[in-house]
Amino acid sequence: MDSFEFNKIAGAVLGTLLFVMGLGIFSDSLFAHAKLVKPGYDLPAAAEGGAPAAAAVTAPSVPLPELLAKADPTKGAALAKQCATCHTLEKGAAPKPTGPDLAGVVGRKMGSTSFGGYSDTMKGMGKTWTYEDLNTFITKPSAFVAGTKMGFAGEKDPAKRADIIAFLKSISPDAPALPK
Ligand code: HEC
Repeated sequence: MDSFEFNKIAGAVLGTLLFVMGLGIFSDSLFAHAKLVKPGYDLPAAAEGGAPAAAAVTAPSVPLPELLAKADPTKGAALAKQCATCHTLEKGAAPKPTGPDLAGVVGRKMGSTSFGGYSDTMKGMGKTWTYEDLNTFITKPSAFVAGTKMGFAGEKDPAKRADIIAFLKSISPDAPALPK
């Protein structure tokens, strides 16, 4: 076998090897295995409106007395800065023209200060501010007092509301004891 023939055979062997390797890489790229995010099969989701989904929506509601027992008036004071744009929060300070004085509000009759801008609904409520009512009002003022003049969308976080209410209690000498 002369060297020319050897070269032809070697070339053919090498060529075949290259072809097989190339085929492997090519087919791998064609049939790439998607990595599973989590191992296992996808099971069909629970039927819409089924028990697990409904429970997840309603489960984490902690009763107000429990939230108030854990509430922090210092955090509440910081959160109440957003209320202070319209409300006076310090006892004895002059009321603002933008909202009724909140010092002493817990246990006070609704809509009863010298503030001139109350809505008719607020003036006609005829109740005193309880923790429960403050919580409902601060969640969404317009839902508790129809046509309220309080231009505040509401605080949706129950723990933050409890902090704010604990702060309001701290500036209200006539506040009743916390609910049990
Ligand atoms: C944009 C101004 C504004 C902001 C901000 C605001 N309020 Fe008011 N608030 C008012 C006005 C105006 C009223 C009177 C509402 C009515 O008569 O309908 C009111 C009424 C109230 C009352 C009833 C007082 C009473 O004398 O019966 C409470 C309690 C109250 N606000 C708490 C809060 C708290 C707590 C915050 C912050 C989380 C807040 N407000 C933020 C303007 C504001």
